[in-house]
Amino acid sequence: MSQWVWIVIALLCIAIVFFLIVMYIDDHRFVIREYDVHTSRVSHPLTFVFMSDLHSKDHGDGNRKVLESVDSIRPDAVLIGGDMIISSKAKRSEDGWMQVSLNITEALASKYPVYLSNGNHEDVLHEEEIFRPLYDRYMEEMEKRGAIPLHNTSEVFHDVRIYGLELPHSSYGKVFPVHVGVEDVEACIGTCCEDSGDPEFKVVLAHNPKFFPAYAQWGADLVLSGHVHGGLMKIGKLGFIAPDLHLFPKYCAGKYTLPKGNKEMSSKTDLSTLIVSCGLGEHTLPIRIFNPAELSVVRLTPGKPDS
Ligand SMILES: [Fe+2]
Repeated sequence: MSQWVWIVIALLCIAIVFFLIVMYIDDHRFVIREYDVHTSRVSHPLTFVFMSDLHSKDHGDGNRKVLESVDSIRPDAVLIGGDMIISSKAKRSEDGWMQVSLNITEALASKYPVYLSNGNHEDVLHEEEIFRPLYDRYMEEMEKRGAIPLHNTSEVFHDVRIYGLELPHSSYGKVFPVHVGVEDVEACIGTCCEDSGDPEFKVVLAHNPKFFPAYAQWGADLVLSGHVHGGLMKIGKLGFIAPDLHLFPKYCAGKYTLPKGNKEMSSKTDLSTLIVSCGLGEHTLPIRIFNPAELSVVRLTPGKPDS
């Protein structure tokens, strides 16, 4: 073989080793990402920790590092956006399939209000009749530990109304396009009270960010999502692949905005904000490249809305 062939083989080996090292490092850490949202709808600052897609991962010693990080942030509340578990483990009834989720929830709920919405991994247990007893037991245990469930319901917290949006499991369909419109959101959580002059700031925990246009049209002020895990490999906000197997998902990681409400009614300053967490864990393909796990901090500050 010529010298050039050896050089190419050597460069390829170096690249493979480099990516394996990055993957190992990113699979074993998490970062704290902070997001600021300004709104005239809150009278005093509120700080939320948003967790999504833990998938039963233990970041060491009972998720001690995650819990210490939350304590250092001192949030007003913790919001959980779903996929705390891995449904396949539950279906196989592997020992301890819910224990990591129960433990971290119990530790958090002993200090902070914890609001809980489902992801596709909880939904699939709920919707399949045969697994419903597992799901019921899990939710019962989560509630016993202090989690406040939001299954297409809402709760008021200070100036904020927090919704847990749980679309039908079919909305997570792979490969073939799935349409979710504002009517589907309304079928789950009712109509938005915008027209009646409702002053509450509306936070929607919506596991799948894909349907942000529908959430924005519904009237959400802030949407908190996960599900995409940062697209496995990420450069900036551009992720490689979504769980529905679509490449380069539009809403993958970080902050996005769209005009809020009915298109004709919206002005440039009337925006809906989406924050997509890269998630705290992974399943099936434990791949993270330039894409560490994420604990999100959302700070709501009174003031002129972002435009
Ligand atoms: Fe998910």
